[in-house]
Amino acid sequence: MATRGERWLLELMADRARRLLDPSIVLVILEADRELHVVAASPERAARARVVPIEGSALGTIYRQGKPLAFERPLGAQADWLRELGLEAGPALIQPLETGQPGGGMLVAVRREESFRDADMSAFAALAANLTQRLAAERLAEQERLRYGVQQRERERARWARELHDDTVQGLGALRMTLANARDSGDPQQVLAAADQVIEGLNREVVSIRHLITELRPAALDDLGLEAALAALARRAQDVYGLEVALELSLPAQAQEQEGRLDGELETTIYRIIQEALSNASRHAHATRADVRVFVREGDLVVEIQDNGSGIEHPERLLQGAREARESSAAQPGKGVEAQESAERRYGGYGLPGMRERAELVGGELQLESQPGRGATVRLVVPLAQLGA
Ligand SMILES: Nc1ncnc2c1ncn2[C@@H]1O[C@H](COP(=O)(O)OP(=O)(O)OP(=O)(O)O)[C@@H](O)[C@H]1O
Ligand SMILES: [Mg+2]
Repeated sequence: MATRGERWLLELMADRARRLLDPSIVLVILEADRELHVVAASPERAARARVVPIEGSALGTIYRQGKPLAFERPLGAQADWLRELGLEAGPALIQPLETGQPGGGMLVAVRREESFRDADMSAFAALAANLTQRLAAERLAEQERLRYGVQQRERERARWARELHDDTVQGLGALRMTLANARDSGDPQQVLAAADQVIEGLNREVVSIRHLITELRPAALDDLGLEAALAALARRAQDVYGLEVALELSLPAQAQEQEGRLDGELETTIYRIIQEALSNASRHAHATRADVRVFVREGDLVVEIQDNGSGIEHPERLLQGAREARESSAAQPGKGVEAQESAERRYGGYGLPGMRERAELVGGELQLESQPGRGATVRLVVPLAQLGA
């Protein structure tokens, strides 16, 4: 019915209406599930969270009329709708809200004594129009945010699918071939040898699928926290890529107060960025060592991954390419996943755009520094103010 952002906006508008018209109470009411919900009120405690069914109520009848109404001195049945809202009868104004969604709403102002004048009514109507407009804009922005989240998940799935295909399916295919060739040879000796080879291969595949499962959602991140999850990630980087990883964590004070935990989204962001940076360092740069540091510097939380690999010739161009890939769908909202994916294909990978996006979603920035032959440094910088400090 109303998201947190919308509620905030509606509260703001209710407060503004109260300042403007000086009524005792302003309510914002929205329709949901054939009921009328008071989603915002000024003062805040007034009638907020009250729900009135549309069917069979006086308020519902007024709502269905869908037109502005002014009540001078509502008495008897005329004041039923006010009672349904738990309000005392008094001079009142109603403006319908066209939210553009299924169902609309109403803006209600009630005074104790003094009647509303014509000037009040037109000011109230203008306010309702403004509220409607801003609500529509907020809903559009919310849809964009949702869609972007969905796209991001789709891209991540595509990535894991590729990983499964390239590693696991190919590996299993090779094992099947070994076994089939041995059988076709008709030589029992060869079949036995192949069986040994295949068992060993299957063990490797099991280990690799286990790694993949852990990487999809590291249980340690939920259960044991960032430090333990990163230690496990470092061990796997050693096992899988032969990359030696040195970890150095000093978390900000607010994390220490919460048993070493940061905000869940931020922990995931830090983990995923380190994970991608380690994978890039060994896959592309043939690094043998990476230094991972998490620390606080001048009011920022800094996460740094420095590798000793082959380095990058134009890190700024690479990052710029990643930015364009990431922004292409924001610039062309209608084009959706395809536009974004084609931009990413032009640019290359999914890794850097993903890191960048994650950094920005927690209010931070991603930096990439490198020189050919001198390794590369990926850095996430998040202002501590963003952590609700
Ligand atoms: N640490 C690094 N050292 C050297 N080159 C790097 C490093 N990190 C990234 N690169 C270069 O940047 C390119 C883009 O990296 P990115 O992670 O975005 O894509 P990818 O790793 O190729 O694919 P994906 O991450 O989608 O599997 C890489 O192909 C590589 O050429
Ligand atoms: Mg990558």
